[in-house]
Order: sequence, then C-alpha cells, then structure tokens
Amino acid sequence: MSELKLPGAPYIEYQNQTLMMEKVALNVLATKYGTPLFVYSKAAMTGALEEYRRAFQHRKARIHYAMKANSSLGVLRVFASNGCGFDIVSGGELAKVLAAGGKAEHVIFSGVGKTRAEIRAALDAGICCFNVESEPELDVINEVALGANKVAPISLRVNPNVDAKTHPYISTGLKDNKFGIAHEDAIEAYKYASKLKGLKITGIDCHIGSQITEISPYEDAVSRVLDLVDAIEASGIHIEHLDFGGGLGINYEGEAPPKAYELWEKLFELIDKRGYGDRFIFVEPGRSLVGNAGVCLTRVEYLKTGEHKNFCIVDAAMNDVPRPAMYEAYHSIVPLKAETVSPQTTYDVVGPVCESGDWLGKDRALNVQVGDELAILSAGAYCMSMSSNYNSRGRAAEVLVDASNEHLIRRRETNADLMQQEI
Ligand code: LLP
Repeated sequence: MSELKLPGAPYIEYQNQTLMMEKVALNVLATKYGTPLFVYSKAAMTGALEEYRRAFQHRKARIHYAMKANSSLGVLRVFASNGCGFDIVSGGELAKVLAAGGKAEHVIFSGVGKTRAEIRAALDAGICCFNVESEPELDVINEVALGANKVAPISLRVNPNVDAKTHPYISTGLKDNKFGIAHEDAIEAYKYASKLKGLKITGIDCHIGSQITEISPYEDAVSRVLDLVDAIEASGIHIEHLDFGGGLGINYEGEAPPKAYELWEKLFELIDKRGYGDRFIFVEPGRSLVGNAGVCLTRVEYLKTGEHKNFCIVDAAMNDVPRPAMYEAYHSIVPLKAETVSPQTTYDVVGPVCESGDWLGKDRALNVQVGDELAILSAGAYCMSMSSNYNSRGRAAEVLVDASNEHLIRRRETNADLMQQEI
C-alpha cells in the first residue's frame, strides 16, 4: 500500500499505514470534525501554482484561478495571497473574490449569460476584462457601461472548433457548444465591438474544455486563435492580451497529463514562432490547481451483500461528491488506515441518497468493516463547489491543512441552516 502512487502525492501519502495530508493524519481529522469532511492541502495548491509560475517566468503573464472549481473562501484566500487573479462566472463569485482579498483589477468575467446587474457590479468593482461570448452580449455590456459613464474592457471568447478529447459535458471548444463566438464570425464581431463607445477591446480568449490530458488540442487552439489575431490586427484592431483559458487535466485514475510548465514550454514555442511572444498571456486554470489537493473523508455505515453486487454504504453521497453521478467520473477510494492486506471484497461504494445514480465508485476492491473511514481522492475540484442539499442533507465541513496545522474553513451545515432561507 505504501508504494502506491496516490493522486495527490507527495502531499497525500501513507506513512506507517496511516493516510497523511502533509503532516496531519487524516483519521484524526475525521474523528475530530466528523464525516463527510473535505480536507485540502495548502502546499498541494501552492505547488500546483508554482508549476504554472515556472512556465511563465520571464514572460508577461497572469494566472486567473477559475474559482468555479472550488470557491470556498479559505481556498480563494490561498490563491489571492499568492498573487493570483481570478476567473469568475457570476456576481456571487465576484463578491466572494473581493471578500477573500482578491484584487478586482485582476478579475476576468467569463460566461454566456451575464446579467445587467452582474455587469454593473463588475464595472463598479473595476475588473480587468469581460470575456464576451456573443454579439448581443457586446450590446448589453456597451449599454450598461455607457449608462454608468464607464468604458468596459472586453475580450471576445472565440470558439476555435477543436476537439479537446474529453467528456462531452466538459468539452466547450466545438461548434455545437453554447460557448464563444464561431471562428468564422470573430473578425466581424471584433469590428462591430470596435465601433461601440462603451467598450475597449483588450484581448482575445478561448477555452476548449476541461480535464484535457494531451498537448495537441491546445496546440490546435493556439494556432487557430493566432490565425484570428493576425486577421484582427490586419484590420487595425490591437490585441493586448491572449487568454488561452483553463482545462489542463489531473490524474484521477492513472492519467498522465503534461505538467503546466511542460504544456506551456510547447505552447510558447508556437507563440514565439508566430511572433506573439511579447503579448500578455492569461490563463484560467481551475482543476489543475486544486483537484488533487483535496480529499473527501467518509465513514462506512453499512455493508450489504446483494445477489450480484456488494454495496459499501458510506455517509458521503452524490450531493457531496457529484462527479460520479454526473459524468460517471472515477475517483480513487482508499482507506485511512491500511493495516491489513487480507482478502478484499469487490463493492460498489454508494451513498445514502435515494437514487440509483448515487454512487461514488463501482467495483472497488476494498477490505472494510463498518465504522472504517475512507478517503475519496482528487476531490478538491468540482465537488464542494457543485454540492447541494439534496435529500435535505447539510453540506460537509471543510478543513485546510498547512504543514502540521489544520484550520476549519467551513463548519458543517446544521438542520437549522437547511431551513434558514425559507419563509
Ligand atoms: N475558464 C472557463 C471559461 C471555463 O468554463 C472553465 C471551466 C475553466 C476556465 C476552468 O477549467 P479547468 O481548468 O478547471 O478545467 N464540473 C466539471 C468541469 C466543468 C468545467 C467548466 N468550465 C467537472 O467536474 O469535471
């Protein structure tokens, strides 16, 4: 067990058969705070950030953490205090970034359906840029900006029509997706935007999908976007920054995506060759900064032997860790104490929610007893931020680990919390 390279290593590893995060034993946290419990490693997050920083040394570049991956204030604070910008998609995200100490001037605002109120709030805060996803949105931002006596900095999100080779629900760069402006319409849209007095064109943007594990889709996207920049600049419109979105994948199940600096070494070769190496580069990574920094701890409540299947029923569920139910996603599930190597049984690991779709792992070989505690790995991204109160289940607590210290960053929701908003 101790030789197994876990997703999240070296920050999450067995020591003396006890699963540790940095210098903290996870079973101690499970006992102290109860389960289900999300636990994040600060060093894993700053380590992942460092891999991007290494890529952008000696370059004009800014990393905007795509906070939809994990928008807990304690997590945002780690990125804000390390000088990150933020990619937001709602007024709620803007408010959280500002509350966590993020700088408005380092915020970019993505998303296909920004409301007038959200646009106004972002203009008042003084964000860096709106990533605009359609021509009608140009009109609305222009109108709101003129009404507020301001000029809105904008970039157009273009859809380069490349296949990110990922799950269809998280692929966004193909023609049939709702995102961005079609490649062939982009130049006209730029010309149109350049005539609107409430707008200032600052950049170009693309984001082709998520959990991308190969370099080639990025290379395709970069060269398609640079083709457009050639044409846009030929028409007299200057592009200051190039934003290539997020999407870099992580190891859930043995995937071996490139490291951020490996990816960017390749992409800069291309960007330099095309003569754009001096432009300001923006990126919007989410999952690759937090995904393998987090785990969800859970306790075995029942073991149930069926005719065809054995079920390991735990106290975490699809409302806490929704990715398996939503995308049939794989998350490793490992015991917090790996004391025995005795025969394992194959289980479906499932939660208590009344849905057959409420599973966390299928056909997992485990040696477990009722009361044992397990860790669902790679749970730092798109788990807590997509969690819900379905089945009137209070959401889990969250702890941030920093070397040998632990900080409770969100308390567990109580039954009173569940009813608080209702009249
Ligand atoms: N920028 C934009 C415009 C995005 O839409 C996204 C993610 C990102 C950046 C960050 O992508 P990342 O680096 O995290 O791949 N819930 C799904 C993932 C949805 C991604 C949505 N957009 C999942 O659990 O796999």
